[in-house]
Amino acid sequence: MPENRHITIIPQLLDQLSGLTIADSLKLLAGKFPGQVTFSSSFGSEDQVISDHIFSNQIQISVFTLDTGRLFPETYSLWNSTREKYEATIRAYLPDSRLLEPFLEEKGPNAFYESVTNRKTCCHIRKVEPLQRALKGQAVWVTGLRSAHSPERGDLQQVEWDDTNKIIKYHPLFHWTTPQVMEYLHARNVPYNPLHDKGFISIGCAPCTRAVKEGENFRAGRWWWEDAEKKECGLHTHST
Ligand code: ADX
Ligand code: SF4
Repeated sequence: MPENRHITIIPQLLDQLSGLTIADSLKLLAGKFPGQVTFSSSFGSEDQVISDHIFSNQIQISVFTLDTGRLFPETYSLWNSTREKYEATIRAYLPDSRLLEPFLEEKGPNAFYESVTNRKTCCHIRKVEPLQRALKGQAVWVTGLRSAHSPERGDLQQVEWDDTNKIIKYHPLFHWTTPQVMEYLHARNVPYNPLHDKGFISIGCAPCTRAVKEGENFRAGRWWWEDAEKKECGLHTHST
């Protein structure tokens, strides 16, 4: 089926998925699009919930991570313990050295603090371009986005069309709250990033993530030196 025609089945998919458990929803998608459903994990709390569903139920959905090269040591440890616990295959996509090397030579390793343009270029090289490679040939992209993450994310839909990547996006935990996510991880004894217990809620690259204080919003610790409306790295563009 040509990729663009997938957009037309979104209302039907929304209908079919409503009322199903997460495991059944993921199974349904994997059955409808064999070998063409992929899940992106940054090993955040939501991603660990989704990975637990996929790996424990052996659902035929590939799992990948974007290794920016700047992740926290705790994130790399969690990647390792996750693959060991589930004996899982987790594919890694790295930045293209032909893009990264000249950027580092010209701007240095910490250029993201100097301007929004540099920050977005770094995110493009380390995340967006590798993501495009990871999504090639896929029909459905599963993510850990939740509506409570930010007002912009609240405007998304649980199943939607990503016109930038020409792919259906599915966010299984779209309606979950933060306590629900953490309760699931504890109840099922799922490994999670110890930084979550130290005030880090949303965890990305180490130089661009800090802990948040009581009362600060979910994404306050990401690119904290920038204006709130610029705080997306380009992975999740506005969808329809
Ligand atoms: S980001 O756009 O600000 O970086 P966020 O950290 O909120 O995204 O994560 C939202 C979802 O994007 C995750 O649940 C995951 O599906 C995907 N994602 C973010 N970062 C990565 C990464 N490094 N590797 C794979 N997926 C990622
Ligand atoms: Fe670069 Fe920071 Fe973006 Fe990571 S989050 S890719 S280090 S700018």
